[in-house]
Amino acid sequence: MSYKVIARKYRPQTFAEIVGQQHVTRTLANAIESGRVAHAYIFSGVRGVGKTTAARVLAKCLNCAKGPTSEPDNTCDSCREISAGTSLDVLEIDAASNRGIDQIRELREMVRYAPAAARYKVVILDEAHQLTDEASNALLKTLEEPPDRVVFILATTRAEDLVETIKSRAQLFQFRLLTFREISDQIEKIAKAENLEIDSGAVAVLARAAEGSLRDGLSLLEQAIAYAGDTIRDAQVRELLGVVAESTLDELVGAIETQSAERALTLVHRLIADGQNLRHFCRESIRHMRNLLVARVCGADSELIAAPEQERPRLADQAARFSEEDLTRFFNILLSTEDDLRRKPDQRLHLELGLLKMVNAQRLAPLEEAISELRGEHRPTPSTHSASAASPSGVRQAQSVRSSAAAAAAARMAPVPESNVSPAPFQPTPASHTASPLPVPASPPQRVAELDRVKSALRNSRLLSSFLEHATRCETESGEFRIFFSTENRTLTEMLPREAMERLRTVVHQVFGQPLRVCVRLEAARGAATRGSELRARFEEDPIVRAMLEKFGGQITRVKRPGEE
Ligand SMILES: Nc1ncnc2c1ncn2[C@@H]1O[C@H](COP(=O)(O)OP(=O)(O)O)[C@@H](O)[C@H]1O
Ligand SMILES: [Mg+2]
Ligand SMILES: [Zn+2]
Repeated sequence: MSYKVIARKYRPQTFAEIVGQQHVTRTLANAIESGRVAHAYIFSGVRGVGKTTAARVLAKCLNCAKGPTSEPDNTCDSCREISAGTSLDVLEIDAASNRGIDQIRELREMVRYAPAAARYKVVILDEAHQLTDEASNALLKTLEEPPDRVVFILATTRAEDLVETIKSRAQLFQFRLLTFREISDQIEKIAKAENLEIDSGAVAVLARAAEGSLRDGLSLLEQAIAYAGDTIRDAQVRELLGVVAESTLDELVGAIETQSAERALTLVHRLIADGQNLRHFCRESIRHMRNLLVARVCGADSELIAAPEQERPRLADQAARFSEEDLTRFFNILLSTEDDLRRKPDQRLHLELGLLKMVNAQRLAPLEEAISELRGEHRPTPSTHSASAASPSGVRQAQSVRSSAAAAAAARMAPVPESNVSPAPFQPTPASHTASPLPVPASPPQRVAELDRVKSALRNSRLLSSFLEHATRCETESGEFRIFFSTENRTLTEMLPREAMERLRTVVHQVFGQPLRVCVRLEAARGAATRGSELRARFEEDPIVRAMLEKFGGQITRVKRPGEE
């Protein structure tokens, strides 16, 4: 059979079959049963949510041989004519193509004559907001002296554009977007009736792409059938619609969670190698991150998430690995990345930057706070993490992620810059402990302080801050301010845009009170010869590390070099 017709073939024939618009259908059914049908209705809502369908059912209710009834039989001549679109009593006019006054005059002529006995004339005006002013006025005149047994239904996607005088004479029904579940249920039902074999994952992809419009969902189903035949697989539909595989999104979340710049950059590399559209990937990531945020705030079974049942545990699991704040930050970063991808050349660069920002986002915020506290700069609010306290189950986890992130970041600041702390299980700190005064650390070596000053002057530049976060050390020599990165961060150093370098130069000038050339240097991870025990001893003595451990209530379980497993 031709699949061009699925939407038409499965057009609901009764109010009961119309999905998701009960607030409309119930009111209409009651009006019919109690004989209080209005002269004019406005059906407002986006395309493909049931406006025309409901208008035709209403026409059948009024003109059914058994009617007026709220349950037309769909077998009498009248019902069948209306379904086939051949009824002389039901006029469908597309205002978008019949905008002229002539059509409205004709229409007035037509409705002037009373319909055949016991019948109604039903005028369905589609895209009614597109009528010209003249046509609207003519329509208004008709509505001011409504002829008996004539019902106008103005269907529109933009009720706000209808003239006020018309609106005030009509009863307004707002058709809503259909939910993900309503659409996927309907697709499944129709697939079954058509003897299709379709994965639940494929149904989910279609339903999501429909974005609330059932008609769109059904035409996507038609496309899928044309593409895949009677057996429709998840992967085929993703391919057809260019939807990013879930595993790719999982990898993104994994890279952020493990704070692995390398994984993030590899991911971008793979997307490009696979010929994926980067903007599309970014939008899909936004959708995913938003789902995680909703799962974190409202729970993974929320209606606000467009995902099938079997995907929800995965969302819940991923959401639990981050705090609400972190997820909000990721969401924001992705939104501005999407904006960059849209407006600027070199999409790869901007996507890479965006992903690196997320990779670093978790350690930046706590680090800034911790450092300013260690310096004795007391903030008015002791903690900005209180938001996560709203979801008790998340507190412990969020705190432990932060603590280890902060300690790891501190390790980079320490006199042994090449060392690192592996994420360790931290005990949540009792509140009283957090409140106790911090030990005053001895001032760290000069070079760290310098880098520190540059960093704090750049606090407002998220790009440069996250860039400098990767620096292992710095030195000032022969008129140069040298910032060192380990060789594994080569890509990062190559990615810094020229404007950012300019800004860095200006800030360095301000901090040192003299113009210095800014040089970015790579060096192999140093101290490879240093034995583990020595490294650990140096680490344990470091005042910042000690203060961090005290503040966050942690333990050093292992000291390792970057890149060490
Ligand atoms: N609420 C709904 N319930 C069931 N099917 C619907 C619904 N909305 C749309 N459809 C499907 O989409 C097709 C087009 O719907 P239609 O009523 O013409 O949308 P609209 O007039 O709002 O643009 C219908 O034939 C039907 O298959
Ligand atoms: Mg319509
Ligand atoms: Zn009938």
